[in-house]
Amino acid sequence: MIDRAALQEKCLRAMDFAAIQLRNLIENHPDYFPMYTQNGQWKHSGEAWTNWCEGFLGGQLWLLYQHTEEDYWREKAEHYSRLVEHRKTDRNVHDLGFLFWSTWRRWYEFTGDESINDVVVEAGQTLAKRFKEKGQYLRSFVADESLFIDIMMNVGIIFYAADETEDEDLFRIAMQHCLTSRRYLVRGDGSTSHEGLFNLETGEFIRQSTHQGWRDDSSWARGLAWSLYGFSTAYRFTGDPRFLQVSQANANFYIENTPDHGVPQNDWEEENPRNPYESSAAAIAASGLINLSRVVGDPALSRYYEAYALQIIDTLTGSQFLAVDTPGWEGILKHGMYHERKGLGVNESVMWGDYFFLEAVSKVLGYE
Ligand code: GLY
Repeated sequence: MIDRAALQEKCLRAMDFAAIQLRNLIENHPDYFPMYTQNGQWKHSGEAWTNWCEGFLGGQLWLLYQHTEEDYWREKAEHYSRLVEHRKTDRNVHDLGFLFWSTWRRWYEFTGDESINDVVVEAGQTLAKRFKEKGQYLRSFVADESLFIDIMMNVGIIFYAADETEDEDLFRIAMQHCLTSRRYLVRGDGSTSHEGLFNLETGEFIRQSTHQGWRDDSSWARGLAWSLYGFSTAYRFTGDPRFLQVSQANANFYIENTPDHGVPQNDWEEENPRNPYESSAAAIAASGLINLSRVVGDPALSRYYEAYALQIIDTLTGSQFLAVDTPGWEGILKHGMYHERKGLGVNESVMWGDYFFLEAVSKVLGYE
């Protein structure tokens, strides 16, 4: 059982450390959007694969503003949010939820300014244009025939846009995407596939596949964490119990298959993994488990999911993962993973890992 007061102290220390790391990043490399570190350094010329991370820097700055209420962080958060505004019409990626929920949506929460909300809504409308009627899914950035589990983290912005505009077709698209993901990417044991491939002529589902996991039939940890978090969000927007069931099945799989410290390897099925940890999956899962604990209804289950989330956060705020005792390391959380097969961001800090870690820490501190 985690001592809550002690954990809050660790979370306060993590926030102080995050402020140091982020101030260094934005002062040393103004207007630069890093994705993953190389040997602990943010600035390098490593491949990006796709451009999905630009909201996580502004998002962390909003979380620091929320914590400190200091003008410095507010100004920087607004600045880095403005830098991504043009992406509201980006048709090339499936990541507009990542880009705008972390930035402009947070900004709107602080202001209630409708012109800021309009940007969030437009991003949701743009994302919906990826919908394939044949197959009933939002296509991934890779190809028309490709559905990614990651998109479950982005579909919430379409539900949001549907609510704000009372557009029934937007709601239909978001709903159908979730049902298709549930049917083809979520397995009976609660594990998930990274990708599903479809026949473009007929919409027929062909097979499961992966890019960042170990094998096509295995369980990529971050993908499952995206699903756990994303389906609990879909449940929050719709009240559809099928989505709550998926989030719970994902959570149960995560808990049953991960060591007691709460940090999985990159893929649960990979024997003798080259790297023992994927800390960003743990950070996403921790934040998602707290969300799940808030919507699950049953008090015992709520306590169970929250307790596991606190265990993860306790582990991540320890010096094995928090880079606080690693001189010269520029990220916040160590032992993350971007794309092991491509050799990108392996055993490094990753922007989304730091963002969801600070989001989870903010929940422990009572801000969210
Ligand atoms: N959404 C891309 C990733 O999780 O690496």
